[in-house]
Amino acid sequence: MDLGRWRERMTISHHITSKKLLPKWVQAMGRAAKVALAGPFSKKGRLEIAALADYLGYNPDRPRPWLPQAEPSEICDAESEVSILKAVGDDTNVTARELAILCLVVRQIRPRRIFEFGTYDGRTTLNLAHHAPPDARIVTLDCSLDTHVGRCFRGHPYTARIEQRIGDSMAFEAGADAASIDFVFIDANHMAPYVRRDTESALALLRREGGTIVWHDYAEWPGVTSVVDAYAQREPRLRNTVWVSGTHLAVCRVAAA
Ligand SMILES: C[S@@+](CC[C@H](N)C(=O)[O-])C[C@H]1O[C@@H](n2cnc3c(N)ncnc32)[C@H](O)[C@@H]1O
Repeated sequence: MDLGRWRERMTISHHITSKKLLPKWVQAMGRAAKVALAGPFSKKGRLEIAALADYLGYNPDRPRPWLPQAEPSEICDAESEVSILKAVGDDTNVTARELAILCLVVRQIRPRRIFEFGTYDGRTTLNLAHHAPPDARIVTLDCSLDTHVGRCFRGHPYTARIEQRIGDSMAFEAGADAASIDFVFIDANHMAPYVRRDTESALALLRREGGTIVWHDYAEWPGVTSVVDAYAQREPRLRNTVWVSGTHLAVCRVAAA
């Protein structure tokens, strides 16, 4: 089990021990029994089995990162200053270096619309809002109904710029948002089928004249690494994708469609 996986597991177990365990145990056991007995016979069940095996450390084909590496200075003005709101994050957030780079990229490209897959506590959302132009709008999507989702921007003046949505990114349809987004940040479920789906959604969301996609947890989660590598090799619009040194960010300046 790698460090990232271990950190994520510890974060989850912290949430569990701080709440009542029995109802969670009953729900988890019921779900586990359903997945074990009926899982192989449905697509959703097979996805859950694959996700569970991956989560438990079954990764015989752990991919070696394929993307070329780039220094932060190649994708943003790395020497300049940024101010970070809610400066101290937790282990589920992006790191300080990653957040600084995300903010610098956003400040440089001045997106009018941003879409984020995976809100979590909203720390990244808040900081993207802080560095985007004042009239920029940010949509952030998370499947969790937990109250911690979006708590960093709840009540903050930037809330007016942020549209929080609840939903499974696997079921996401670009709809009215299609071809309207300048910057997409993908950091939701890290299993390959989800990353693939989120990447397809990102391509549908980006404006026809192009934009920027950033994936988190590249070279950390096998599902992210394998999917991003495959897209960079076969999807012409994503062939400029690079892995930013010292981070788990993969960044692509997507060319016009
Ligand atoms: C690693 S956290 C995101 C961290 C955040 N980007 C940050 O830097 O603070 C992943 C989030 O994605 C959400 N998530 C997981 N699977 C999802 C799915 N299928 N659709 C939407 N959100 C999902 C989780 O509930 C969690 O809040």
